[in-house]
Amino acid sequence: MEIVIVPDAPAQGDLAAGAIADLVGRKPDALIGVATGSTPLPVYEALQRRREQGLNLDRARICQLDEYVGLPAGHPESYREVVRREVLDRLGISDDRFMGPDGSAADVVKACADYERTLAAAGGVDLQLLGIGTDGHIGFNEPISSFGSRTRVKTLTKQTRVDNARFFAGLDEVPQHVLTQGIGTIMEARHLILLATGESKAEAVALAVEGPLAAVVPASVLQLHPHATVILDEAAAGQLKLADYYRSTYATKPAWQGI
Ligand code: PGA
Repeated sequence: MEIVIVPDAPAQGDLAAGAIADLVGRKPDALIGVATGSTPLPVYEALQRRREQGLNLDRARICQLDEYVGLPAGHPESYREVVRREVLDRLGISDDRFMGPDGSAADVVKACADYERTLAAAGGVDLQLLGIGTDGHIGFNEPISSFGSRTRVKTLTKQTRVDNARFFAGLDEVPQHVLTQGIGTIMEARHLILLATGESKAEAVALAVEGPLAAVVPASVLQLHPHATVILDEAAAGQLKLADYYRSTYATKPAWQGI
């Protein structure tokens, strides 16, 4: 795992967007897994700027990490709509190059299995962006999710519903159930980039990065991934014991290596 500490959210966005631009340069039809929530927005803004400056995303493909269950199709806070707004529209990517699980399906169990097949048929995810919940979740894999889990229905913790209530009229409006790529599914992506911003994430980040591997901290599974990059702002890095080591490691890294 590589830990990169940068001053602020725009710097996080630039770094992750640079990795995506390099990937698309090597593999124009790369499958890029996107995350919702507030944290990755600077990545999409930075990609939009790079596109205006000539980055070609004409063949890039986008896939979704997770979704609420039961919101009607087209609900503005369904993650399909959030991804359309924040990623596809910004980057000029058409619907036929976008895949996600159907949270409004009558049979959500089948929708999960269908999504696993879709990802496999697409050749797997090349780069997956991740946020981290204050409870340590990745995707919507809440604490004690199996490290071997596949895309499935999960029940949100109260803490996650409270954290996400800001996107809805109130807590009661936040769905209880979600579909999420499993931890086993996420771990198959060739490169994982986890972003965390702000003091509210510092404890979860420290547990995930420097704590024991534990299902109760789902993000700790990144310790097992062969290519995982954790990009933090100073506040999110605030509880890391080895922060100085990570800083000096990154500062002395040859530029050609990228992240
Ligand atoms: P946030 O959500 O980026 O809105 O903090 C992160 C997450 O829950 O994974």
